[in-house]
Amino acid sequence: MSTPSILILPGDGIGPEVMAEVVKVIDWFGDKRGLKFDVSHDLVGGAAYDKHGAPISDETMEKAQSVDAVLLGAVGGPKYDDLDFSVKPERGLLRLRKEMDLFANLRPAQCFDALADFSSLKKDIVAGLDIMIVRELTSGIYFGEPRGIFTENNERVGINTQRYTESEIERAARAAFELAMKRDKRLCSMEKANVMESGILWRDVVNEVAVDYPEVEVSHMYADNGAMQLVRAPKQFDVIVTDNLFGDILSDCAAMLTGSLGMLPSASLGLPMANGRPKAMYEPVHGSAPDIAGQGKANPIACVLSFAMALRYSFDQGDEATRLETAIETVLAGGARTADLLGEEGVTAISTTEMGDKIIEALTASL
Ligand code: NAI
Ligand code: MG
Repeated sequence: MSTPSILILPGDGIGPEVMAEVVKVIDWFGDKRGLKFDVSHDLVGGAAYDKHGAPISDETMEKAQSVDAVLLGAVGGPKYDDLDFSVKPERGLLRLRKEMDLFANLRPAQCFDALADFSSLKKDIVAGLDIMIVRELTSGIYFGEPRGIFTENNERVGINTQRYTESEIERAARAAFELAMKRDKRLCSMEKANVMESGILWRDVVNEVAVDYPEVEVSHMYADNGAMQLVRAPKQFDVIVTDNLFGDILSDCAAMLTGSLGMLPSASLGLPMANGRPKAMYEPVHGSAPDIAGQGKANPIACVLSFAMALRYSFDQGDEATRLETAIETVLAGGARTADLLGEEGVTAISTTEMGDKIIEALTASL
C-alpha cells in the first residue's frame, strides 16, 4: 500500500499553535516507529478567507477528498464575526463535513486518572473511564422536511421532522460496529423506540446489522435512560451509537464527565474509500479560543489525541495510538499542566510547546 496521506488544516486562533505540537508527534512516529506519512498543509477558516476570499478553496476541498485523513485545528475568531454568513470560517468546516459525507461523528469520553478530580462526578465513577459515542451526523431532525415556522389556525407553529432512511441508519450502525470490533466489542444503541417510529426503525436496523458482527454484544436503551446511566455509571458502556439529536446532547454530556475542553478529541468518518480506509477528519472539540490565542497557553492534548484517533481508526495502528495515549497519561501523572488544567495548589502552568515536548519525551521513554 502507498504511503498514507494526511492533510493538515491548522485554521485560526490556537489551531496553528496546537497543530505545531501534533506535527512534532507525527515526525516522531516517522523517525522512531517507521510510520511514514505523506503530510501536506493548507488553509481553512479565516486563514483561507484572508487568502482566497472563501473559508475553504475548491483546491483544498479536492485535496481533502483525496487524502487518507484530514487533521483540522479550529476555525473562527472575532476578526471574522461580521463576515457574510456564506463566507464565515465555520462554513469551511461544514463544507468539509458535507462534501466528504462524514456521517459518523466519534466523540470519546476518556478519563485520565491524573485529572479525575476535574470531573463533576465522584472520582471512582470516572477514573479509568473510556467510552465512545457515535453520533449520526448528516441526517435526522436537523435536516428532515418539512421544517419551518408556519401559521395555522391563526397561530404560529414550529416544525422539525425526524426522518431516517434505513440506509442512513445502517451506515452509522456499521461504523459503530466496526469501532466496537476494535475496542471492547460491546455496543449500546440509544433511541426512543417507545415513543418514536424512527426509533423503532433505528432499533430494527441496528439488530439487522448486528447479524454481521456476532462477536459484538449488543444492547438497546431509551435515550433518556441512557442520559441517566451516563452520569450514574458511565463505565458500563463501551461504544454507544445514537442519532443526530440524541448524540448531540449525550456526547456533550459524556465529554464533560472527564474535565477540560482542552482534552477532548473527535473524529468524523464517512464511507470506505477504494483503499478500504474510511473518509476521515480528526479535530479537537474546542474552538479557536481567541481569548488565549498567540500566548502559548493552549493545551495541545485534544489535538494530539485526535491524531491518536487517526492512528487507530484510519491507519490501523491501535498499538501506536495506545502508546501515544499512554505517553499523555504519563505526562499528566508526572504533574505537567497547561493553564486550563490548573487547580491543584502550587502547580504552575507550562506552555503549549513545553507540553508537546513532554509528550515527545514520554514517547521516547516508551521505546
Ligand atoms: P472555544 O472552544 O474556542 O473556547 C472556549 C473556552 O475554552 C475559552 O475560554 C478558551 O480559552 C478555552 N479553551 C478552548 N480550547 C482550549 C485549549 N486547547 N486549551 C486551553 N483552553 C482552551 O469556544 P468559543 O470561545 O465559544 O469560540 C471561539 C471561536 O471558535 C468562535 O469563533 C467559534 O465560532 C469558534 N469555534 C470553532 C470550532 C471549531 O473549529 N470546530 C468549535 C467551537 C467554536
Ligand atoms: Mg453540541
